[in-house]
Amino acid sequence: MRTDTGQAFRLEDYRQSDYLIPELEMIFRLDPEKTLVTTKLLIERRDGVAADVPLVLDGDGLKLEKLLIDGGAVEHNDHEATADSLTITRLPRQSRFEVTIVTRLAPAQNKALMGLYVSNGVYCTQCEAEGFRRISYFLDRPDVLSTYRVRIEAREKEAPLLLSNGNPAESGALEDGWHYAVWHDPFPKPSYLFALVAGDLSAVRDRFVTMSGRGVDLAIYVEHGKEARAAYAMDALKRSMRWDEERFGREYDLDVFNIVAVSDFNMGAMENKGLNVFNDKYVLADPETATDADFANIEAIIAHEYFHNWTGNRITCRDWFQLCLKEGLTVYRDHEFSADQRSRAVKRISEVRTLRAHQFPEDQGPLAHPVRPRRYREINNFYTATVYEKGSEVVRMIRTILGADTFRAGMDLYFERHDGQAVTIEDFVACFEKASGKDLTQFALWYHQAGTPNVTVATSYDARAREYTLEVEQSVPPTPSEARKRLMHIPLAFGLVGPDGQDMAYDGVEGAEVEDGVIHLRKRRHIVRFKGVQARPVASLNRGFSAPITLSLVMRQKDRLFLACHDNDLFSRWEALNTLFTEALIDASTRVRGGKSADFDTTLLGYPAEIAADEGLEAAYRALALTLPAEADIAREIGSNIDPDAIGRAREALRKAIAREAQETFARVYRDLGDDGPFSPDAKSAGRRALRNVLLEYMAAGSGDPASAVRQFETASSMADRAAALSVLAHQFPGGDAARAALAAFEERYRDNPLVLDKWFIVQATTPGGKTVDLVRELMEHPAFSLTNPNRVRSLIGTFASSNQTGFHRSDGEGYRFLADAVLAVEKHNPQVAARLAVAFRSWRSLEKGRQEEARKALARIAGEKELSRDLRDIVERTLA
Ligand code: ARG
Ligand code: ZN
Repeated sequence: MRTDTGQAFRLEDYRQSDYLIPELEMIFRLDPEKTLVTTKLLIERRDGVAADVPLVLDGDGLKLEKLLIDGGAVEHNDHEATADSLTITRLPRQSRFEVTIVTRLAPAQNKALMGLYVSNGVYCTQCEAEGFRRISYFLDRPDVLSTYRVRIEAREKEAPLLLSNGNPAESGALEDGWHYAVWHDPFPKPSYLFALVAGDLSAVRDRFVTMSGRGVDLAIYVEHGKEARAAYAMDALKRSMRWDEERFGREYDLDVFNIVAVSDFNMGAMENKGLNVFNDKYVLADPETATDADFANIEAIIAHEYFHNWTGNRITCRDWFQLCLKEGLTVYRDHEFSADQRSRAVKRISEVRTLRAHQFPEDQGPLAHPVRPRRYREINNFYTATVYEKGSEVVRMIRTILGADTFRAGMDLYFERHDGQAVTIEDFVACFEKASGKDLTQFALWYHQAGTPNVTVATSYDARAREYTLEVEQSVPPTPSEARKRLMHIPLAFGLVGPDGQDMAYDGVEGAEVEDGVIHLRKRRHIVRFKGVQARPVASLNRGFSAPITLSLVMRQKDRLFLACHDNDLFSRWEALNTLFTEALIDASTRVRGGKSADFDTTLLGYPAEIAADEGLEAAYRALALTLPAEADIAREIGSNIDPDAIGRAREALRKAIAREAQETFARVYRDLGDDGPFSPDAKSAGRRALRNVLLEYMAAGSGDPASAVRQFETASSMADRAAALSVLAHQFPGGDAARAALAAFEERYRDNPLVLDKWFIVQATTPGGKTVDLVRELMEHPAFSLTNPNRVRSLIGTFASSNQTGFHRSDGEGYRFLADAVLAVEKHNPQVAARLAVAFRSWRSLEKGRQEEARKALARIAGEKELSRDLRDIVERTLA
């Protein structure tokens, strides 16, 4: 374990390396306990660098077996090798020379899952961000680009399949049952994109012909017997390849494209050049084992990793501060892809829900950082919702400001200017400035300044003058190490909704630049006057969530309800309703906390039945509209002195009240949506199931009777329906006979399918209430649970801590003590996953006093450990600061 040294890396300290590595050759002789890696580096000294400047290569836990320069041994005095670096002080005078390094690894012992490791008998690698240095000494930084030639040798029986990046070059038999394969990647790449896979896997094959007519052999490798479950991923891959050609003009560039699914993986997936490695959770799916959310995730992540081939691989990051250059942009691209493949409005609502659930609390808590951070202690802790999701929002705003065509011109310029380079956010933004002729200096603050801006709006209508006024004010709250903020350029899409639901025209506008339905806020305060407005409109603001901000707008409930029914922007309709629910829930939880009952306005309670039955709306949209804000959403809106139990009770009361009010309609729609033939994962069918399953939840809550959920559980023909029924039973009737029977039946049926058992762990870990922490402790002893498999750990421990408000925040602090224990146990072998788990503590200061104190104690206990990894110490210290 790499322990913390307190060292921080700072953006302003960036400097070029003195040496480059234009080419390298690697030879792997694979063995679980003793793998030998021979790396032959062609080193090039940069112009102007003196020959006595030492070559310092990165390592991490390495042991040097052998070192040669231009084939000759290196004197003891001329180099120093430690676990973490190799420094060579005496070097040839000529500017190019060859350094050969032999290291020895034990991949079977590698449970950190960085570098070379063995997952379920398969050798695989994960090098992003700094895993290559766990394989060999190297200039392990993204601005050092090299072409790789990789020879893999293995026992043929153990590993008939040998893969690396690029195109296959040669292969053949060796002595004693060994064989080899050589791969050559002609595209210079940084070391984080290196990959190797060797094992006994099955291939699902297909072929893609690119827009210029080149054939590409596609393969997805999975464990034997799981081939059929890779069909959907293959289909998603081909659609992604076509889409990137059509929407961005980007064509694939190698002869082969390989994807490998592995069962032990720290993150979702990895875009290694020509050889994507995936968490099997994001490859394997069929109707029996995958929910609709699983299918949608697979489609999105297959696309995401594929799109990295241009945004990330062909053009990469100069340094890790620029991570959003590839991640934010690629998330934006995968969002657009999913929106085109499915329903744009529904996709946008889901994106915003995700952003609010994950990025807003990050931005509003102790771990806040800019989309492009300026300092880090451990880069693995910066694969965050801010870098990914807010990073995507920033790209989306660029498109909003420039318009679709100019945005595309800027992207084309980016690809043309920077192909083959390692660049910065400034380089990226400059392409859009060039393409549009606009100055994006103020806009670029979105990359540099942390915190969620708040925009306050007051409206007024002067009937005599026919003038409608918006008084708009922006502020950005302080965040750690950024007390004072600068004013941002906020593109606020809007409509003035007239009495008939149509957007009203106006003759002119003063007080801000308004263009194509967008108000450009640049100053602290704008008074925006719309002239010639014939009747009092209702303002629909931040349409489509054009900017990732919070909006404070006092509005009459009647007007909000009007928007919820009539706004012609579907996102804003959802937003209006969601705000109404949120306001009602905040109110109710205050009353519940004060010992009163949670009462709700009857107008609000009447609306859900209308939505459920409105066939003019897509089913998926109706499902989202009927989904109440999550407990965590309500807590975030309340902001401080939070009592999760009161919130939980208020939400439960609203659900029951709606269910009773809409009982008959819900039951009828549920019935009418019933069986429509064989399962199809398409968006329309998924939406129909989503709506039914939301209604099922209400029906159970309203009646207090598990019968309909039991029926659905027993007759379900897909995992989507079965899992939904299971969670209704387990969450609404915990400990009851129906819940027990369903949980037991599910466990029995999927005994041999770890990915499905994850759902069984998740359902139990998210059971509301104070008893769940004991259940989770118990489940850690379950034979299917494993502390070393990240999917198991996340399903049971991660979801408990991040998604079970009343369970994790048990008032006596037992949830926090449990998480501290679990984090320390996982950290022993996998610091990266442990640090992720610890992030669940991040909003501790917004809790009421008693819980705050318990959470602080748990955090302090972790911080008090003597030997903490850099990953965990960084998170815990920033959280406590
Ligand atoms: N680049 C990967 C992606 O597509 C994420 C890999 C992150 N890995 C890590 N160890 N931090 O988003
Ligand atoms: Zn990515």
